[in-house]
Amino acid sequence: MGTVTLGKTGPSVTALGIGTWAWGDKLFWNYGKDYGETQVREAFEAAVSAGVTFFDTAEVYGPGESERLLGKFIKQTSVPVRVATKYGPLPWRNTCESVSDALTESLKRLQLDRVTLYQVHWPFAFFMSQETLMNTLADEVGRGRIEAVGVSNYSAAQMREAHRLLEKRGVPLAVNQVRYSLLDRQIESNGTLQAARELGVTILAYSPLAQGLLTGRYTPDSPPAGPRQWDSRFSRAGLQKIEPVVSLLRQLAEKYGRTPAQVALNWLAAQEGVIPIPGAKTAKQAQENAGALGWELSPQEILRLGEASR
Ligand SMILES: NC(=O)c1ccc[n+]([C@@H]2O[C@H](COP(=O)([O-])OP(=O)(O)OC[C@H]3O[C@@H](n4cnc5c(N)ncnc54)[C@H](OP(=O)(O)O)[C@@H]3O)[C@@H](O)[C@H]2O)c1
Repeated sequence: MGTVTLGKTGPSVTALGIGTWAWGDKLFWNYGKDYGETQVREAFEAAVSAGVTFFDTAEVYGPGESERLLGKFIKQTSVPVRVATKYGPLPWRNTCESVSDALTESLKRLQLDRVTLYQVHWPFAFFMSQETLMNTLADEVGRGRIEAVGVSNYSAAQMREAHRLLEKRGVPLAVNQVRYSLLDRQIESNGTLQAARELGVTILAYSPLAQGLLTGRYTPDSPPAGPRQWDSRFSRAGLQKIEPVVSLLRQLAEKYGRTPAQVALNWLAAQEGVIPIPGAKTAKQAQENAGALGWELSPQEILRLGEASR
């Protein structure tokens, strides 16, 4: 698996990461019913065996359980693993200490002294200014508890502001983690992707499989169970609408001896400065997602997929 630098000068991570929102999450993903610790441990092991060593988590996943599980699995492997986690700017967190305390708690759950990447989960910091927030994160880089600083769900303007505030402290903004997939292309037209490239900020693409829509597993006759069934994109009409994209993914998957999910992730990884972080609940999914890289769609196929899903 190739590696990529986070931002212009940040740490180097695998060109595809694994998202761990579903590890411990009972509200959206049905952890504990459809799958549990054994399956997500196997997903971790399969990812690492396939050469994927970059994992994305957050304090709110589980809540806390995703970080705890990841920390436990990391302790049991000899392979160096890179961890990205996230700070939740909640209304009652209005001092620098509340940011540092949240990081302390994340590090405890992860059983680590430092994380590769610490991201602000969303742009609304309520009673804390972005200046205070970014200054505190820069202080934590100085203390050595964070290697690189990132943001998530920031617009182009919000990202520019975070970049400017961190730059004053000599700390580069390494990433903006945003929703990006063949079916979610807003960052291409709202200026976020363009601004990230201009600033040298890496895009971590979350929900890169559009929460399962791009795997071809769900059809109008076989929608998912759980909360996704209330999402209009997973309704009969929604699934019918994306049929041409799924059909092209299937066609290309057949040509390359891959799966539709691997083709969708390969398309995303082909976009400059973008790292996909697909979620995986099982060894099979982790292994399959790792196999999304290491081969290439042709430039014409990349264009065709882009056109079909526009
Ligand atoms: N920053 C943010 O605000 C934010 C928001 C959302 C997510 N994220 C991050 O991004 C990561 C990924 O996003 P996501 O979980 O929303 O969506 P995703 O990666 O698009 O989809 C993940 C889901 O797709 C299915 N799947 C995954 N690999 C598959 C494969 N190879 N074959 C068939 N099905 C497969 C699984 O669900 P089923 O098996 O149940 O279909 C899995 O839970 C999260 O884990 C999290 O780290 C961040």
